[in-house]
Amino acid sequence: MLGVFDSGFGGLTVLRAIHARLPNVSTVYLGDNARAPYGTRSHEEIFQFTLDGVRELFRRGCPLVIVACNTSSAQALRQIQRTVLPAEFPDNRVLGVIRPTAEKIVSMTATGHIGVFATPATVASGAYLREIDGAIVTQVACPGLVELVESGREQSAEADGLVATFCAQLLAADPLVDTVLLGCTHYPLVKPLFDKYLRNNELSLPTLSVGSESSGKLVDRRVISQGTIVADKLADYLSRHPDLSVRVDRSGSRQYLTTKSDEGLSSLASRFYGKEVRFEQTDISA
Ligand code: DGL
Repeated sequence: MLGVFDSGFGGLTVLRAIHARLPNVSTVYLGDNARAPYGTRSHEEIFQFTLDGVRELFRRGCPLVIVACNTSSAQALRQIQRTVLPAEFPDNRVLGVIRPTAEKIVSMTATGHIGVFATPATVASGAYLREIDGAIVTQVACPGLVELVESGREQSAEADGLVATFCAQLLAADPLVDTVLLGCTHYPLVKPLFDKYLRNNELSLPTLSVGSESSGKLVDRRVISQGTIVADKLADYLSRHPDLSVRVDRSGSRQYLTTKSDEGLSSLASRFYGKEVRFEQTDISA
């Protein structure tokens, strides 16, 4: 089985793309909803909580775990790969979402200017600045947004106001940004708001100026979610790692686990996955 981990429901936006790309791969999803959000927590907490989740998915028979959380990928992944796996699980693998996204997004910009919206912890880690090679990257931290999305308030006036502020910050910092990454797996649920404030803005490209005439050009800024990018990279990874790939069951089974006990969780989760999924509760805290 393939394990997919997130602090909460956000990773379901990635899981959905994985199911579309690799429908036969059996998956176990684990959301640490009881301790979400991670994005405003310390490095130590994010590392420990992510490790708890990864261990649980290994224990349930997943040889490969996708950390479908940018915050965990930024703050915990490298340490797990370098210290925990060799010592305790040498045959298992853990992959994150930042490296595959960074590799792809750089090929999508025409101006060479990329914007990244992410949680405060992801921004503080500098992971996207390190991983995106060959473009100018401007990051904007979006405190408060995950909480609204996780609790079903993605269409509220509050969410609209927050996104408007974050987009204004990005455009003030770098008006030449033409490719904007939603660097948190919760944000695809507020993509319509990011589209509203970022697309169809007049973007003057200095390189296109002729003489004294400014050639202000209408450039359609693209707002990019990660799901498909991660799913494509996973398919490629499995094809290049047959030893691991054969250990991933292909009977198409699906299991959804959460650390929180709450009756309403399954219907909240359907907003991320696109259809109703039934969650079972599990305890992962060490
Ligand atoms: N969805 C997660 C991410 O991609 C984390 C959200 C959070 O727990 O703060 O960063």
